[in-house]
Amino acid sequence: MNFADSEIVNSILIEDGMTATESAETADVILVNTCSIRENAETKVWNRLKEIRSLKKTNNDLTVGVLGCMAERIKDRIIEEEQLVDIVVGPDAYRDIPRLLAEVDDGRKAVNVLLSLEETYADIAPVRTTGNGVSSFVSIMRGCDNMCSFCVVPFTRGRERSRPMESILKEIQQLSDEGYKEVTLLGQNVNSYKDGENTFTALMDAASLINPEIRFRFSSPHPKDFPDDLLHLIAERPNLCNYIHIPAQAGSDSMLERMRRPYTREQYLDLITKMKRIIPGLSLSTDIIAGFCGETEEEHQQTMSLMKEVEYDLAYMFAYSERERTLAYRKFEDDVPEEVKKRRLTEIINQQMEIQKQRNVKEIGNRHLVLVEGTSKRSDEQMSGRSDTNKIVIFDRMDFEKGDYVEVEVTDSTSATLKAKPIRKTTLVEYYGMAVEA
Ligand code: 5AD
Ligand code: SF4
Repeated sequence: MNFADSEIVNSILIEDGMTATESAETADVILVNTCSIRENAETKVWNRLKEIRSLKKTNNDLTVGVLGCMAERIKDRIIEEEQLVDIVVGPDAYRDIPRLLAEVDDGRKAVNVLLSLEETYADIAPVRTTGNGVSSFVSIMRGCDNMCSFCVVPFTRGRERSRPMESILKEIQQLSDEGYKEVTLLGQNVNSYKDGENTFTALMDAASLINPEIRFRFSSPHPKDFPDDLLHLIAERPNLCNYIHIPAQAGSDSMLERMRRPYTREQYLDLITKMKRIIPGLSLSTDIIAGFCGETEEEHQQTMSLMKEVEYDLAYMFAYSERERTLAYRKFEDDVPEEVKKRRLTEIINQQMEIQKQRNVKEIGNRHLVLVEGTSKRSDEQMSGRSDTNKIVIFDRMDFEKGDYVEVEVTDSTSATLKAKPIRKTTLVEYYGMAVEA
């Protein structure tokens, strides 16, 4: 989400006549886009700001801004205590950046952290300078009304609002014209998307018809209202990836209740069973929190057993990090000792690595359609891409290029990647043997 937001800010700045520099040392303005989701995300930002402080010592004219989720919470500290930051801009106020920058020309400070009920930046075409030119994010909604008890997002990003479908489709058409091959639709809670009559399924349907050679993913849905019609659409549309990120957070009813996740373990597992039934070969990933308030050993074991039962292909696993303003902060105690949290997180991660290793070994001999994202980090002689099921696949470079679709056969695997033998360059339509009728 922050990558997508930075691209919106990029566009606003370019529109205002600015250009990007090659390095921080030569910049007149440095903006740091921040995340508040966990303590260590904020720690990273503080460290970055310390680095920038040394630049400010050698360049008196340097203007520094903090953007995004940390803005509201720490605006006083940032400006007064740190004496480092000149502007502070919340996630709904990016259009105001040029005005704020003009205001601080004479050494004053400027702040806009107002949240909005409407802002979706629908009319701003993001300028994509950081991506790989092959895959891209498109933001479809902002904010979140779910109020999970551990989560600060509803407070930092405000109320849920959807971007008009037409502007989303226009952006995807533009990406298509620019040669992009993969689009991930983004929102804090994508299946709450509503634009008048259009549901998230209607949006996916319309998006996937724009160009049958563009693959679509989305992140993240909520298990509480995952629509059946979307599962059927994914099953029948070749360019909707057979991959769903579906955050569970925990595996016991008691913990889910404390987390204010409105589903039971059984309902979640029923949803997973249905997903696997409707979409053969489906790949799944999840988010898990270890050591949330009051977590017992039994509850931890239930999280472990849920993960074992589902057999996720990928998981994002976190130790609980208390966030001010959340319900958990106000009502519960962050009472699982740090070393217990760490131990449980390690157990969860180790088990997940083992599951991934086993699942990936079973891939040996399978064929996949891989979209090439670039050369492998390890070797120029190898290409790296992802399968429809979101697995990272490495194979010999030959004369393949970024943005090619390549059919491969898996020859080896680890818990994180698949190694493969390239068979042929192809297209999505050719590979799946059917065109999508618009
Ligand atoms: N502590 C740890 N993890 C958190 N997440 C959200 N809030 C917290 C927190 N306070 C995780 C959830 C969410 C993901 C984006 O971040 O698992 O799905
Ligand atoms: Fe946070 Fe829950 Fe909203 Fe996700 S659904 S952003 S975890 S409040």
